[in-house]
Order: sequence, then C-alpha cells, then structure tokens
Amino acid sequence: MHAPAPDAPIIFFDSGLGGLTVLGPTRALLPTAPIVYAADYAGLPYGKKSDEELAARVPALLGRLVERYQPRLAVIACNTASTIALGHVRAALDLPIVGTVPAIKPAAEMTKTGVIGVLGTEATVRQPYVDDLSARFADGKTVLRHGSPGLVTGAEAKLRGERIDPAAIARAVSGLRDQPGGEAMDVVVLACTHFPLLRDELQAAVGPNTRLIDGAEGIARRIAHLTEGQHWPAQAVPGIAVFTRTAEHPPPPLAALAPYGIAAIETI
Ligand code: DGL
Repeated sequence: MHAPAPDAPIIFFDSGLGGLTVLGPTRALLPTAPIVYAADYAGLPYGKKSDEELAARVPALLGRLVERYQPRLAVIACNTASTIALGHVRAALDLPIVGTVPAIKPAAEMTKTGVIGVLGTEATVRQPYVDDLSARFADGKTVLRHGSPGLVTGAEAKLRGERIDPAAIARAVSGLRDQPGGEAMDVVVLACTHFPLLRDELQAAVGPNTRLIDGAEGIARRIAHLTEGQHWPAQAVPGIAVFTRTAEHPPPPLAALAPYGIAAIETI
C-alpha cells in the first residue's frame, strides 16, 4: 500500500454522536490528524436493529464514505456496529479498520468483588461476541448485562444541550443492580460509545464504590500505533462531520461538535 498523503483523513463512524468519545482521546494523541466524523442518523438507533440489517447496512455505508473521503483508516466508533459488522466491513474494504469492543478484559482485571456489569445497547448485549469475551477474560466472574436504549437518547440530548430524562439513567443502573449478584457489582463497562457522554450522571447513579470504564483510550492508542510513521499536516486542519439524511434527526448545531475540532457539517 502507498503511504497515505498527509491530508488523508481518519473516518470515525457511529450511528450518532457516541463516536465523539473515541474521537476525543484520538485527537489528544494525533492533534493534526484530518478528521471525518460520520454519523448514520438515518439508521439511529442501531441498538434496535437486527443483526442482519446492520451486517448489510454498515459495510455499504462505510463503502460510500471511503469512496467519498479516501481515508487512511476507518474507526467503527460504535460497539453495536463493531460486534456485528466488523468482519463484514474488513472483508469489503481495503483499508485498516479499527473496531470498538466492550472493555470486559480490563474490567475483569479491575473487579475486587468478581461482579462486573456490561451496559450496552440491546443489540450489543445479546451478541455471542460478548459471551466469547466473558468466557476468555472473565472466567469465574459474574458478568451482568443490560441493554439501555434510553441512554443513547439521553447522550444525544445532552450534546444538543437538551434535558436528560433522569429516569433513563436510573433505569439503566437498576437494570444491572437489580439482577442476582448486582448489589456486589464494582465495575461497569460502558459498552456503547454514547454512554461516556453521560459519565457524570451514571457515576452519580452507581455510587462511589463502582467504577465505570470504556475502551476509548485503548482505541486511540491503537489508531496511533497503526498510523505510526505516516505523515500528517503540519497544523490542525478543520474537521468535517457528515450525517446521513433523515427528517427525524436533523444534525446537531455545529457548536456541539466544535470542541472536537469539527468546523463543517455535510449530509449524504
Ligand atoms: N454508539 C453505539 C454503540 O456504541 C450505538 C447507539 C445506537 O445507535 O443504538 O453501540
């Protein structure tokens, strides 16, 4: 493969604004990397879709984005899309693809009580991929799972400056806590990229003795590793956000994206 041109971007892909939680730590490591942030608002929420639908939709859409923006690397900054479609995307596209997987391994290393929670979308928590990660890395531990669509809505609302329904936070936490063994849970994996946007609200709800973890820093390090030795612009260039078109979810105000280095919004 030819060395990418300095202005070749990295694409971050999610159903909505959750992937910004992966973009943030990546920008800290690669401050001048050109960024295209892609959100499939026409498909939001992915957590409610079938595996078959996502396995077809995600590679097709990423294919269009890759053709249009010619990135050096694509990040599926979405646990739902990664746990279902990563293999399909890698088979369909000829560029490095970084996925997002639930941080069960570090959670299992961190727990003292042996009870960890996995909070994701409904689609993610039912994946055999999560069974595999639990069997490989959390053998002998209790892994509780709960799918919370309300937190996806809440995270989108928060970034737009709208009110978050406190009942959605409470429901998500009790969905784990009220399961057998849940009172001992001391680590919760935020297995949806939207959820770290609600970290403060979730931390207040789980209490000080339960830690929240996600995989974003590790993904950022992986991106930096895969692009090591490549050339970047000398100075930061304005990033672009691209949203799939739908009347139901208009793109957010640019001010919500500006802290992530995004200076323009496009639709496809
Ligand atoms: N941000 C996504 C994830 O990491 C999914 C949110 C959704 O569309 O349901 O799973």
